[in-house]
Amino acid sequence: MPKTPADPTRRDVVKLAGAATVAAASTRRAEGAPAIQTVRAANNQLQYALIGSGSRGQYHMKHAKGIDTGRCVAVCDTVEENALKGAKEIGSNPKVYKDYRELLANKDVDAVLIATPLFMHYPVTRDALLAGKHVFCEKSLVFKPEEVHGLRALSKERPKQVLQTGLQRRYSAFYDAAAQMIQKGMLGDVTHVYAQWHRGPMGAWRMKGDAKNPKDRLATWRLFREYSGGLVAELASHQIDVADRMFGATPEFVVGVGGLDYMKDGRDVYDNIQLIFKYPKGQKLTYTSISTNSHLPLFGGARTQFGEMIMGTHGAIHITVGTDNEPALGIWYPEANPPQTGPAGEKKAQPAGASLAGTGKGGKGLPILLNRDQVSDQDGFIAKELKFARRWLYSKGVMLPEEDRNPVDVQLESFFSDCKTGAHPKADLEIGLADSTAVILANLALDEGRRVFFNEIDKMGKGPEPKARKA
Ligand SMILES: NC(=O)c1ccc[n+]([C@@H]2O[C@H](COP(=O)([O-])OP(=O)(O)OC[C@H]3O[C@@H](n4cnc5c(N)ncnc54)[C@H](O)[C@@H]3O)[C@@H](O)[C@H]2O)c1
Repeated sequence: MPKTPADPTRRDVVKLAGAATVAAASTRRAEGAPAIQTVRAANNQLQYALIGSGSRGQYHMKHAKGIDTGRCVAVCDTVEENALKGAKEIGSNPKVYKDYRELLANKDVDAVLIATPLFMHYPVTRDALLAGKHVFCEKSLVFKPEEVHGLRALSKERPKQVLQTGLQRRYSAFYDAAAQMIQKGMLGDVTHVYAQWHRGPMGAWRMKGDAKNPKDRLATWRLFREYSGGLVAELASHQIDVADRMFGATPEFVVGVGGLDYMKDGRDVYDNIQLIFKYPKGQKLTYTSISTNSHLPLFGGARTQFGEMIMGTHGAIHITVGTDNEPALGIWYPEANPPQTGPAGEKKAQPAGASLAGTGKGGKGLPILLNRDQVSDQDGFIAKELKFARRWLYSKGVMLPEEDRNPVDVQLESFFSDCKTGAHPKADLEIGLADSTAVILANLALDEGRRVFFNEIDKMGKGPEPKARKA
């Protein structure tokens, strides 16, 4: 491992940054290519439909309209006003439906984007697969244990149909870079992940309307267990998937405490949850989501709400995904006093009494660098100097590297392309099911106040399942 300077010089920074520079495999657009490209001939485009045109569905339409490898031909929502908003946003004059089964009978539709409330993910996904469509379904992929088993079985019978889960961090160049740093051993043994999604009282979910009125309950579906998995399904699901990816494993068991203590507006999901997931090699994910304060103890207070800290014996990474208005961030903190290793990587005897030496000065965080900052032999003198200059500015906190593209764009483009080529999605069925399993079992641990083992899912929901309908 390179030595960690507390206040790096330009040469140190270049050396460290060179070690941290990782190819951003998921960034498919060549640098400098225009964001909105020329419209392709219609027969090269994937014809897709949106089912569930609420907040997320409309967000997908806003992003999909810049991707010319797909064409939206239909939009469905049980609330007509929402369907029309989605249709207007995409601007491709799609057919509008109220009943998703009628939309699935439309032969012009090759693939569907599903952004309904969680309780409808499985029925719609199942019917779409049976109708021969490729499926992109938002996280959390399924809601109930029987749906984990049912979707696995159905998808196995239909290997030619793409099934992708809406876990967009899997399509982020920053998370790819962090995963590659771990693979290269730059964090040593990765032992712990801390993840949080905290919201202050003004940003937290709120009941709109009357909690006893079925229409209002459905419109505010996140707050009710009949439709939703609460904070675990809606927020933690993204970050549990990050921990699974960085540990390269799924958890062995989960424990937790949940409370409905502050947001007493008729909801029946928890408003604060604390969870610990234990992984097979002893690694732990410590997770917290609250609704009363948005402070984030990462990135020196530069951001609020959500992020993850990945910790290993040789360093830590603070990381978070970007939004439409803020860039993704990734900061690497090499461990100030990492374990010594011999030439062949064997562990050397550690000096005694290290814990008595005080906390020491923490190393300065270094931005995770993306593809465009990597110096290559092909670069001319000026290109090299520009890259060194950019890295130097990053190291001084004057600029931060920014992802070329929002991972939501990348995940949609990737889905359109995989449907055409038959390639396997990164956020595939098993990643989606592992994530949903963690959500279901974490909620069980919160409800029952016990250690819930992940192999319990094998026996859950194995009763007779209603026969899937042929569309
Ligand atoms: N990946 C992410 O970062 C992210 C972010 C936000 C939401 N989501 C997910 O997207 C999904 C939708 O969330 P949202 O915030 O858009 O909720 P929303 O309530 O704003 O929208 C859901 C829409 O689905 C419609 N709907 C309900 N039942 C339907 C049915 N049977 N057929 C057709 N339409 C139906 C509703 O009328 C509504 O317009 C959820 O699963 C959520 O977890 C993912």
